[in-house]
Amino acid sequence: MNAQTLTDNARKLVDDHKGLLAMDESNPTCNKRFAKLGIPQTVETRRAYRELIVTTPGLGESISGVILYDETIRQQKKDGTPFLKVLDGAGIIPGIKVDTGAKDLAAHPGEKITEGLDGLRFRLQEYFQMGARFAKWRAVISIGEGIPSRSCIEANAQALARYAALCQESGLVPVVEPEVLMDGEHTLERCRKVTEEVLRNVFIQLNCQRVLLEGMILKPNMVLPGLNCPTQESIDEVADITVQSLLRTVPAAVPGIAFLSGGQSGDMASARLNAMNVRFKSRLPWALAFSFARAIQQPALEIWLGQESNIKAAQQALLHRARCNRAARLGEYAATMERA
Ligand code: 13P
Repeated sequence: MNAQTLTDNARKLVDDHKGLLAMDESNPTCNKRFAKLGIPQTVETRRAYRELIVTTPGLGESISGVILYDETIRQQKKDGTPFLKVLDGAGIIPGIKVDTGAKDLAAHPGEKITEGLDGLRFRLQEYFQMGARFAKWRAVISIGEGIPSRSCIEANAQALARYAALCQESGLVPVVEPEVLMDGEHTLERCRKVTEEVLRNVFIQLNCQRVLLEGMILKPNMVLPGLNCPTQESIDEVADITVQSLLRTVPAAVPGIAFLSGGQSGDMASARLNAMNVRFKSRLPWALAFSFARAIQQPALEIWLGQESNIKAAQQALLHRARCNRAARLGEYAATMERA
C-alpha cells in the first residue's frame, strides 16, 4: 500500500468542490427503477443508460469520480469505446461497488448484514488493474422498534472496516458507507442517536483494522427525521444536527465526507448540503461533499425513458443536478437555480 497515493487520491475525490456520482445500482435495483418508468430491463438498456451518463458533456466540471457496477465497468459505448476510456477523457476517476448486497442478518428480524468479503482481495486487484482507483461498500441500518441492535451495528462496522483495509492493500480508496435508512416514523433525534452510535462503531473498527484515515472517504446519511415522522424539521435544523453529529464522531484526519441522498429529492439534498456548507464551512476539518445516486440521476432517468430522442434533454437534467451540488459545496446553491 502506498499511503501517499491513497491520500492524494482520496483528496482528489473531494477537491475543487466536486463530488461523486453513484451509478452503481446492481442489476436488480437498476431494473426496479427502469420497471417503474416502463423502460425495458435488459443488458442493452442498462448499457445505453450508463452511456448517456458517462458521455454527458461537461460532467467532469462538477463530478470528480463515478461509482460503477461490475457489469458497467466492463461495458463500452455503442461505438466500442470502453466507458473507462470515456471517463478518463473527461477527467473523472472510476470507482467500483464491491459489496454483494445486504442480506438478512441471522437471528435478527428486520436487520441486514452486507456481504462480499469472500474473495474480495482478488476482485479488488482485478478492478485496480482495470483502472479503478476507489471502491464502495454500503451497510444498511434500519430504525424501528427495538432496532438497530448492537450486534447488527457491530457486525456491519466490522465488515466495513475489513473491506476498507483490503481496499487500501490493493491501492483503492475505500468509500465507507454506513447508511441509516430514512424509512420509518422515527424522530430526527432518534436518527441522530443511531447515526452517532453507528459512526462511533465504524471508526472503532476502522482503527482496529488499521485503516489509514487519510486515505478513505466516509459516505454517511444526513441526519433526518423518518419519512413518516409527523415533524419534519427545517433545512437549517437538519444541517445543524447533521454537522454536530459528524463533528462528534468523525476524526479530522478523514479528508472528506460525501453524503448519500437516501431517497431525498434532488433539490432537497442540494439545499441541505448547501446549508451545511454555508453555516459551518470555515469550522470543518473535512470537506462536506456528495456521492448521490438518485438525487442526481432521477430527473434524467424520468426524461430519458429509454428513448434515444430524449438523450440530450436527459443529459442536461443530469448536468444541472451535478452543477447544483457543486454549488451546494460552495454554499452558492439557491432554489432559484431550479427555475433557471
Ligand atoms: P442514493 O444517493 O440514491 O442514496 O444512492 C447512493 C448510493 O450509492 C447508495 O449506495
